Amino acid sequence: MAFKSLAFLVAIASVSQFTRVLGTPVKTACPNSKHSAFNAACCSWFDVLDDLQANLFDDADCGEDAHSALRIAFHDAIGFSTKGGKGGGADGSMIFFGDEELAFDANNGLDEIAGGLQPLADAHGKTYGDIIQFSAAVAVANCAGSTRLQFLAGRPNATVHTPDGTLPNPFDNVDTILARMADAGFSPDELIALLASHTIAAADKVDVTIPGTPFDSTPAVFDTQIFIEVLLNAIHTPGAGLQKGEVKAPLAGLMRLQSDFALARDSRTACTWQSFVNNPKSMNTKFAAAMAKLAVLGQNVKHLTDCSEVIPTPAANHVPPFLPAGKHQSDIAPACAATPFPSLPIQPGPQQSIAPVPPAS
Ligand code: HEM
Ligand SMILES: *[C@@H]1O[C@H](CO)[C@@H](O)[C@H](O)[C@H]1NC(C)=O
Repeated sequence: MAFKSLAFLVAIASVSQFTRVLGTPVKTACPNSKHSAFNAACCSWFDVLDDLQANLFDDADCGEDAHSALRIAFHDAIGFSTKGGKGGGADGSMIFFGDEELAFDANNGLDEIAGGLQPLADAHGKTYGDIIQFSAAVAVANCAGSTRLQFLAGRPNATVHTPDGTLPNPFDNVDTILARMADAGFSPDELIALLASHTIAAADKVDVTIPGTPFDSTPAVFDTQIFIEVLLNAIHTPGAGLQKGEVKAPLAGLMRLQSDFALARDSRTACTWQSFVNNPKSMNTKFAAAMAKLAVLGQNVKHLTDCSEVIPTPAANHVPPFLPAGKHQSDIAPACAATPFPSLPIQPGPQQSIAPVPPAS
C-alpha cells in the first residue's frame, strides 16, 4: 500500500513535470494549509500569510497595523546609499537592531508594528528583512484599489547597523528630500510614486493630541485622494496647533505634512504628482515598480525566490477620484504649469469632518 501510493505520487510528479514542459504551470497543495503554490518553496509563506492576516491585520483589514507595515518597509529599506557607508537596505535591521534604530526620531511609533512582526517572523523561521517586506505587500493588498506588489523571499539577517539621519523628514525642504532619495537610488518621479502610500496613512506622533489623523479623507482605500487633497487650499489647523513638519489641512480631521505640500508644488515634482490625480492605474503601476525596487535595496536578487503568488489580490475600488463634499474646483491650487488640473466630480452631501484611523486592537 505504501509502495503503491509512493508510485502514485511519482506519477503525479512526472505528470506535473510534463505539463510544465508544455507550458501549463501546475500548483502543488501546500502541507498544513488550504493553499496551493506553483513554487512549493513558497508554501511556508502561506502559513505566514494566514497568521499575519488573522492575528496582526485583524482579518485582512486596511487599518492602522497595515498602514504601519507599509511605513516600516520604507523606513527599513531607505537607510541605504548607492555610495555605501549607510545601512544594508531592506534587511530587517529595523527589527534586528531595533533597540538602536527604533529609537531614532524618524522611526517614532514604529516600535508597535516591529513588536508585532518580530514574533511572527520568529514563529515561522523567517528573517526580519523578509517579514517586513512581506507584511507591507500583504498590507497594500488589504486596501481596496491597490495592485499586487512583488514579493521576493530569502533576505539574510541584517549585518549592518543603519545610522541615524537617513529618513526624509516632513520638515526637510524639497532639495534635501530629493538629495536623500537620489543617494538611495530613487528619482523624483519614483519618490512621488512611493508617496501613493500616504493615501493609506495617518499620523500618531506629529501631533500626539490627535493620534490617527489621516493624510486624506479615505485612509482605508488605496485611491488617488492623497494627490487631490494635498492640492486643496488649506484652512484648517488641527489638534494642538501646527507642529514641526506640519502645515494647514483642507478639511477638519485631516493632517497635511509640509513635505507632501512642498513636493506637490515644486516644479520638479508637481506634474508627476498631478498626473496621478485622475489616473489610479498609472499610480498603481508606478507605485508597484518603485516598491519592487525599494523591497530589494541592498539585496542580491539572484539569491531570492519569487513568492509573489502568496500576495492576495486586492479588492477593486469603484469610487472614481473626487473632490471632497463641500469643495469645488476653485479650491484646488494647481501647480503643474504644463497640464490643467482635471475636472473631478464633487462628492455629494455636506462637508464632513474626517474620522481618525482607529488604533490597532
Ligand atoms: C518625503 C518622504 C516622506 C516623509 C517626510 C514621510 C513622513 C511621514 C510622517 C511624518 C508620517 C506620520 C508618522 C506618525 O506620526 O505616526 C508618515 C506616515 C506614513 N508614511 Fe510616510 N513619509 C515619507 C515617505 C513615505 C514612503 C515612501 C512611504 C512608503 C512607501 C511612506 C509610508 C507611510 C505610511 C503608510 C504612513 C502611515 C503610518 C500609519 O498610519 O501608521 N511614507 N510619513
Ligand atoms: C537569523 O538570526 C537568528 C538569530 O537571531 C537565527 O535564529 C536565524 O537562523 C538567522 N537566519 C538566517 C537566515 O541566517
